[in-house]
Amino acid sequence: MKRISFSFNPAASTNSYDTLVLPVFADGKLAETCQGIDPDKTLSTLVSELNENADFTGKAGKTLMVMQPFDKTSKRVFLVGLGKAEELTFKSYLSAIKAAASAIENSGAQTVYNALVLVQPADKPQAWSVRQNAQVFQQSFYDYAHESRGEHHPKDPKLNAMIFAAEETPENRSAVEQGQATALGMALTQDLANMPSNFCTPAHLADTAIELGKTYGFEANILEREQMLEMGMGSFMAVAQGSITPPKMICLSYKGAGDEAPIALVGKGVTFDTGGISLKPGAGMDEMKYDMGGAATVLGVFKALGELKPKMNVVAVIPATENMPSGNAIKPGDVVTSLSGQTIEILNTDAEGRLILCDALTYVQQTYQPAKIIDMATLTGACIIALGNHVSGLMANDQTIADDLLQAGLETYDRFWQMPLGEEWDEQLKSNFADMANIGGRAGGTITAGQFLARFTKDVTWAHLDIAGTAWVSGDNKGATGRPVPAVVQYLLTQAG
Ligand code: BES
Ligand code: MN
Ligand code: ZN
Repeated sequence: MKRISFSFNPAASTNSYDTLVLPVFADGKLAETCQGIDPDKTLSTLVSELNENADFTGKAGKTLMVMQPFDKTSKRVFLVGLGKAEELTFKSYLSAIKAAASAIENSGAQTVYNALVLVQPADKPQAWSVRQNAQVFQQSFYDYAHESRGEHHPKDPKLNAMIFAAEETPENRSAVEQGQATALGMALTQDLANMPSNFCTPAHLADTAIELGKTYGFEANILEREQMLEMGMGSFMAVAQGSITPPKMICLSYKGAGDEAPIALVGKGVTFDTGGISLKPGAGMDEMKYDMGGAATVLGVFKALGELKPKMNVVAVIPATENMPSGNAIKPGDVVTSLSGQTIEILNTDAEGRLILCDALTYVQQTYQPAKIIDMATLTGACIIALGNHVSGLMANDQTIADDLLQAGLETYDRFWQMPLGEEWDEQLKSNFADMANIGGRAGGTITAGQFLARFTKDVTWAHLDIAGTAWVSGDNKGATGRPVPAVVQYLLTQAG
């Protein structure tokens, strides 16, 4: 994905650009903070005339491009409506800049002077606006352009450079870096998730991790089937035995802080989930190529880490496999022994995510002794029923990690909603034939899945993100969202030294 270059200059008149982007509040009011870039009032006059003639009123999310409106430095003035100043929120600001980014992308603008950073909701600093603009404009370049897309003409954005109407403070500088790195990470996550499962195999995920390692200096280690069978990952290998496509355990390690215990990220990498012998219905089954959304998020977060190089240690462990029915597939009632030694009765082969994650969770503790673990997984359809598509589910065995993740979600508008854990739900996993069953009945399906994972993370601070409802959108705009890369990156940065 092409990269925009960002710079700072508070004085519009001393810049060279072809497009001036201006924030306009309801009733045709140029934001007051724009006075500094409008010394002779040409801009506010233009804006109020457009309002009087009902051409542009500053309604939230509306935009208008005006060509050469006066004899000035820029070819275009691009107006972005923000609605009533006192009603500006994170959500309305985000939709306004998203509308701006998409309109600019479809214009000839090459160099933009962006005055949208002169406004923000009352409780936010300017660096916040800088961060949102850097992320949203960089993200607007995202285009799924795999060769298998055929006739698709990939996006060819003309925008190259953006100058912010702001001082180059350390806060603003790091806001740009964080926003841009997040967008680049999200793009990798989206590319991997959108890619069909005949291309995005466990081996492709492994190659992507190795490639990231070469680019950014991460240590990569890939475990193969024979090794994992030998090690005793009976649960992960049970899911993988139904597929001819070789499974991989993908491990990456980022070292930015010496010998400190790392934070571990574990991502579900089911490159296609048919359900196995407990076969899924046909309708919409194509979307199960997205069942590696957790793995894709972990790799996207690592890309952002490589860009930002925070002072901390982070490891990634990704169990990757297909979940297929076959003559060699696991069957309902089969009992397997996990790497932890606990036995599992597989009552439904479609509850495969937890079966691969439990061995990854044990492996990451044995291998890296992490201070904390965060796993992310498109784990349960029940999560979509409970929460819909706007927030990810969050469960944790420690309230501090839960609170910190909730906060990171609010700060990035990539939100989580906490669900409970507790003994009552854990009891639903009882089996007559093994230490536990892999399903707990229809009631509280997201929580019993969390409870299953909790049995493998008893001795470590752990949080679980169920991203079934947020990793992709269905319907006419079907596609990966890149979530929850923004929130996880934000969380990690708050934990860095
Ligand atoms: N990958 C699915 C969960 C899922 C389904 C995510 C639909 C997004 C959309 C997971 O492996 C699964 O099949 N879970 C089962 C669990 C059940 C058998 C206890 C489910 O949600 O139906
Ligand atoms: Mn499944
Ligand atoms: Zn699945």
